[in-house]
Order: sequence, then structure tokens, then C-alpha cells
Amino acid sequence: MAEPTLWIGADWNPEQWPRDVWRTDVELMVRAGVNLATVGVFSWSSLEPRPDEWRIDWLVDVLDLLHEHGVRADLATPTASPPPWLARLWPETSAVTAEGVRLSPFSRNHFCPTSAVYRERCAAVVQALLDRCAGHPAVALWHVGNEFGQTCFCDSCAAAFRVWLRERYGDLDGLNRAWGTAVWSQGVGDWDDVLPPRAAPYLHNPAQLLDFRRFASDAQLELFRAQRDQIRSVDATTPVTTNFMGFFAGVDYRRWARELDLVSDDSYPDPSRADAVVDSAMSSDLMRSLGGDRGWMLMEQAASTVNFRPHNAAKSPARLRREVFQAVARGARGLCWFQWHQAAQGPERFHSALLPAAGTDTRHHRMVAALGTELAGLPDLGEVPRAEVALLFDWPSWWAGTQRDLPSDRLDPLAQLRRWYRVCWQRGVLTDVLGSGDALDGVRLLLAPSAVLLDDATVARLRAWVRDGGHLWFGPFASAVDETTRLRQGPFPSGFADLLGVRGEEWHPLPDDQLDPDADPSRSADPDRSALSLSKRRQSTVALVPTDLGAGLPRGRADIWAEWLEVDSADVWARFQGGPADGGPAVLTSAAGAGRVGLVSTVPDAALLDAVLGRALDLARVAVPPAVPDVERVVRGGLTFLINHGQEVRTVPVPGATTDLLSGTRYRDAVELHADEVRVLTKEEV
Ligand code: GAL
Repeated sequence: MAEPTLWIGADWNPEQWPRDVWRTDVELMVRAGVNLATVGVFSWSSLEPRPDEWRIDWLVDVLDLLHEHGVRADLATPTASPPPWLARLWPETSAVTAEGVRLSPFSRNHFCPTSAVYRERCAAVVQALLDRCAGHPAVALWHVGNEFGQTCFCDSCAAAFRVWLRERYGDLDGLNRAWGTAVWSQGVGDWDDVLPPRAAPYLHNPAQLLDFRRFASDAQLELFRAQRDQIRSVDATTPVTTNFMGFFAGVDYRRWARELDLVSDDSYPDPSRADAVVDSAMSSDLMRSLGGDRGWMLMEQAASTVNFRPHNAAKSPARLRREVFQAVARGARGLCWFQWHQAAQGPERFHSALLPAAGTDTRHHRMVAALGTELAGLPDLGEVPRAEVALLFDWPSWWAGTQRDLPSDRLDPLAQLRRWYRVCWQRGVLTDVLGSGDALDGVRLLLAPSAVLLDDATVARLRAWVRDGGHLWFGPFASAVDETTRLRQGPFPSGFADLLGVRGEEWHPLPDDQLDPDADPSRSADPDRSALSLSKRRQSTVALVPTDLGAGLPRGRADIWAEWLEVDSADVWARFQGGPADGGPAVLTSAAGAGRVGLVSTVPDAALLDAVLGRALDLARVAVPPAVPDVERVVRGGLTFLINHGQEVRTVPVPGATTDLLSGTRYRDAVELHADEVRVLTKEEV
């Protein structure tokens, strides 16, 4: 059966329901436009209640039932949550925290990724599944495990970490050099001395921390690969995926994405935050960039409330519709939900679903069923074009930028990325999210708001790209460390200072407003008092003033961070007024070869950042459509998606005659959108 225009589906956990519910469930799926059901994700104990006692029949019946109704299956291996017997018989299969606590079953995801027994038992249950289900006509997609991201600090992981380090560094000299172990007497004389970064009295070795992150990601990737290859050895044609979690720090999705046949993502923006739609757009753009030609699909989202935040606001139907069309506009090949039938038991019984506990005769079910039908009616969507603007984002740099020993813990790399992304989003400029190893063909402007760590090869490549005509803009704290977390020597931004015509000398986090020295928490042994003084701490800001070269930029404020820079030849657009870098340059740029480098050495307020990046877009000759507040505008294939995320009526200029596929309304030269409205406009008619 050919792939539909869009996969529309949900997780379905029939093992949680008596059999007489199954058929009704599937009939209702069909009525709601569902064509894909993810089954088996957490079904290990239902498939193997005791070691080697197999109960696969029920799952085959489920696949038969789906097939009978024309619903395809995204069949999951059940390995994310091992049954309690595994922990009882082989306690070493359960993960251990950095504090040495071994995790217990009766939750989920408690496995140790390097445990040999866990891996053997995974292979056994996957084989049992393959023996009975591979080749079943319902199966359209394999789904390995679920949301990989476990980290374990046990002895088995310590041993695997040593093997990984040996491969990376060859010998102990290499390791000692990379880890800078002469500091604080950490010299490693025997591989057995090496440990994961377990609980320790004070700051950890930063290179050890970073390598352990890399190792933990690779160790889980090995689990994924083992299952993927096991599947491929039996079924070489059905694509294999596993679900990502947007900007999730636990594993390096850039290393993972190339191992997947299809990138898929779980996205749970918080409905109580109006601007969470910008975050979900950024996640979609990341997934599109990771997926490349293979595309990506939204594997999980909530129809309304979730259950994992302390206070879970419900999602309005209009908001859900906006989020769904946003993902479609940004290239999704499928839209799936967690989950089809709201759980009656377990910790997710208060999590929304497409079929709520209150039943089918509900506003909620009618709405999602209508949405499913609307999506199923969309024509061929085509691809989202490659963007001319890209954000640079690497996991190792994110990890290095969130360690505890940095000049400030307020310069959060992801928050910086969001701020810069938001400017592009508001201006309707499509943005890819690329890694330092990705090809930059077609990219005119590369934004690097949080490139704390750059390796030598990337520095060389980016320099050459700029000389050949690329425009590269850095945010604060750029190129501070190399891939081992070693502080780069010489003026910063290291590797680019000469191109920029500046010499960065000192990072200057802005001081807090004056505090009573006796209330400084570092001097106080009284935790209540520390908490009190912390809550009273106020981040100060300093003024940013445009120069003659920056004429036309607004005056603004700088937050969190400043840098002391000596200018040799750069064009300075704005200077600090007040604060530790008073009078010094804050925003500057230089032509370099056929290209350009720029630096925003602080965290400007939104209006100033918008104006600065607006100029950077102009200089890079990026096409920018007329901005309309609150309206998201994305072109996919021949269709223009417009989404009004605000509460005001907005008019969007769209030259020529167009028709909205959703309502059939025809427009000429301008399209009016009420609050929450979505339009999918056909190509302009000539
Ligand atoms: C995801 C998970 C699902 C479900 C969902 C609830 O993290 O993959 O199984 O738990 O969250 O929001």
C-alpha cells in the first residue's frame, strides 16, 4: 500500500484494554482519519510475562485488526521499559544514578544501556517480535524503543566508557592531555582509574563531563543500531525510526539522525505559554534539517493536557489546530498523537488522548476527528525548500555551554538560540538548524548565537566559507573552547578575531544589582537566608547605544553579558553605555574576503536584536517577506501556509489570486485572518 500524503495517527496501547474494546477503537480511528497506529511501545511484559515465555498472539491479532480496517502499524520494539522480572533476576540491568542509587522498576526506562544481559534480553524479545510480525501487511514502520535518553553511572558503564575513551584517544597520554589531568592531581596512570562523573565534592573535570555525554549518547545509539540491524536482517525494506524529543540534551541527535530511515519527533509545547509556538516551530525546523531528504514526522503530541508538568493547562482546539498546521507547513510527513485511547490506569490516566475517557460524544473528540479528516483531505504537499538562513547548533557545544564552571550560568545556549530564532520566525524567514559538519550549500547567512565550542576543523571550514562569500554572525562567548573544553588561547572570538578586526580580551558577565554582602549566599551557612538573598537578586542591564555606522538602530539594553573587545578595523554598530565594558563595542561587523563576519557580544533586548539581525539579513541579501505580527508564514511545495497565532485580525499581503484549500475562499492580493485562523493557499493563479 502506497504511503498516504500524510500519516495521521496515534500511539495505541490495546494491551491496556479488554479485547472487546479493540474493534470499536479501530473503527473510531478510521472515522477520525487515522491511518497509522503505533503499537507495542511498552508491551514487553505483555509479550514475555516470564523469561522466554512468549505471548505474541495478541499482537498479531492487533495487527490483523488494523489491517482489516486499512490502518497501518508503526510497530515498536518494547525495550524502553523492561518487565519487573528483569530487574529481579538481573539487578545489574537497572541503571544507577550519579549518586549511586540503583533505579527500580514500576516506572519506565530504568534500564542500563550497557548491561550485557539487558542487551541479550532485548535481542530475544525483538527476535520473537520479528518471527511473528515481520512481513505482516499492516507494518509500515518500525519504531525502536522509545525516546532514548537514559544515562547510567554503574560499573558496566564505567567499563564501556573506558573502551570508548581508548578508541577516542588511543592511549593514556592522549587521554591525560585531552582531559587536562595535570589540574587538581587527576593524572590517570591506569585505565581502571577512569570513572564516569559520579557524585563528587566540587566541580568535575569539564573534559570528563563532556566525553561522558558523548559516550552516553553513543552507548544508546549502539542499542538502537543493534535493534535496527536485527530488524533489517529480516525486513530490509520497511523503514526504521525512533522518536526524538526536540532539543533534548540527553543524546546528540545529529549523530543519531544519519542512522534513521525516517526522523520522528515528540513535541509537547506548554499551552500556558503563548510563545511556545515559536519553540515548536524551532523544533520542527531542527527535525526537518536532521531529516534532510528523508523528511520527518511528528510522532507524538498532546491533543490537550499532559500530565507531566506540575500544573497542566488544557490546549484549546484552535491552538491544537495551529500547532498541527505549523508542523505540516514545516515539512512533516506525518502527524501523530500520544495517544489514541486515554489510559484508565497508570500515571498517564490524566493525559489527554484523541478518544477521551468521556467518550466520543464530546467536543474534544469531535474536534480531533474533524481535524484528522481535514488533514487527510490535503493534497500532495511537496517539500519545504532549503532555507537561506541557518542556525548553527551542535550538541557538544550545548553541553559545554551548560557546564557549571563557566563565567555565567545565565547565558543559556538554548535560550540564546531561541532569541535569535525568534527574530527569523517573526520576520517569516525560514531557518534551518545545522551542525558544524553539515553542508552549507545555499546558505547565505549562518547565525551562531551560542557557539561556545568549535573544533579546529570547523573553525577552518567556516573561515573558508566566509572568504567564499558566506555571512557568519556570532553571539556572545563564541569559540571559547575546543572539542576537549580546552580554553582557546589568544584573542577571542578565537579563529575569527582577525576576520572581524577585533581582539577580545575578557568576558564580563554583568554584575547583579548591589546586594547586602552579608546576604551573599556564598557567605551564608543558613540555607533559608541564601534562598532569600537569591530571590532578591536582580540582574542589572546596561544601555546599548548605536554609533554613526549603526544609525537607524534603536537604543537598547544589554542583559547578562558583556565582552571587552579592542577594535582594530571592524565597523561598530552599537556600544555599551555603563557597566564593565562602558564605551566598548557591543555589535560589530567586518567584510572578510567575499563574505562577512559579525559579532553581537551581549544579550540585547528583542527590539535591538531584531534590528541588528534585520540588517544582517539585508547584507546577506536574504529575501524577507513583509512581516505581519503574530502571523507565521511558510511556503511548502506550491502552498503558502498562514497561521495567525495572535488574537487580532491580521491582513497579509499575498500578491495575485489565491484560494484557501481549507475553506475554499478566494483572495486577491491580501488575505485576512482572524485570531487562531489557518489558511493553506494554493499557488497564485496567473
Ligand atoms: C512521551 C512518551 C509517551 C508518553 C508521552 C506523554 O514522552 O513517549 O509514551 O508518555 O510522553 O506525554
